[in-house]
Amino acid sequence: AATEKGNYRHFMQKEIFEQPTVVAQTLSSYIHRADNSVALPQFDFDLSTIRRVTIVACGTSFYAGLVAKYWFEHFARVPVDIDVASEFRYREPVLEEGGLALFISQSGETADTLAALRHCKANGQTIAVVVNVPTSSMAREADLLLPTHAGPEIGVASTKAFTCQLAVLAALAAHMAVKKGRMNRAEEEEVVAHLLEAPACLNAALDHDEDIAAMAHLIAPARDVLYLGRGPDYPLALEGALKLKEISYIHAEGYASGEMKHGPIALIDEKVPVIVIAPSGPLFEKTISNMEEVRARGGQVVLISDAKGLEDAGEGCLATIEMPRVHPLIAPLVYAVPVQLLAYHVACVKGTDVDQPRNLAKSVTVE
Ligand code: G6P
Repeated sequence: AATEKGNYRHFMQKEIFEQPTVVAQTLSSYIHRADNSVALPQFDFDLSTIRRVTIVACGTSFYAGLVAKYWFEHFARVPVDIDVASEFRYREPVLEEGGLALFISQSGETADTLAALRHCKANGQTIAVVVNVPTSSMAREADLLLPTHAGPEIGVASTKAFTCQLAVLAALAAHMAVKKGRMNRAEEEEVVAHLLEAPACLNAALDHDEDIAAMAHLIAPARDVLYLGRGPDYPLALEGALKLKEISYIHAEGYASGEMKHGPIALIDEKVPVIVIAPSGPLFEKTISNMEEVRARGGQVVLISDAKGLEDAGEGCLATIEMPRVHPLIAPLVYAVPVQLLAYHVACVKGTDVDQPRNLAKSVTVE
């Protein structure tokens, strides 16, 4: 049953390993297999007229929104405004009449996100909600309900809900692009084909569990850890750092690779491991040159990339984690796995309470 650990040591571990299945489940409800097109639930809003999307969420769900911003802009050419819910509500956001506001939440009950939703509703926005609990407050108050089918998530640190959110958001971005005439049938089929590759690639990523467990011993003694990524993989650096601090209590920061030279590079020495998330693709060279800046200062790099990327990057890393070669669209889903597993195994080495980390709640229903 979804609420039992089975053969796993922790719920978090079980939920990490469920990702191929639940992402496939989620995708299947957004894709017409007959013609490989994207299908969304019916709703009363003409996406072809959309001029701006406002995305609001908290925690890991916010990072899913940050990835989606790249996709909405890239595929649909729609400007995106995104904020954490606690900031959004109090900064007097400018909401054009008739806009679309998108809320992302595993629980559907996070107080700040729910309050932001109600604020947007009161200000003439159409409300779309990506949510994992179909009976939640946010699900009930949505105009467009976009469920994730991750099943119950018990571990406090979110894992499978995140990758399922990404699957829904990628489908939504493609659908918007189609509606806006920015994506033709052939391109839509191609995007769908890449999305459908995600479950198998997630499985391939999970195959590296043991290597990551072995490597966790190198990270566990650290006091600080830095995560770097670029483009749609930059939010994964943020998510990797969040996961590590949540469950292992090691101080960690995620940075856009190119921004490192504006501050964090001052921290680099042989005691601060730097986790570099760099799938091969259009941004690879740039990220690798940031990695070289770290290494030139004695920094210890853990490079996460595919075989080609690891080869191109050459020797000299503290450790490497090999991912399958994937299309850039699904890289944020696939690379979520090693950052989750790394945090998980470091926490196990440190002996923390993985499923119930101190001071944290699964769902924060107070402001
Ligand atoms: C808490 C949880 C996080 C989660 C965040 C947002 O902080 O510990 O794992 O990402 O809330 O929750 P939501 O249910 O809105 O996605």
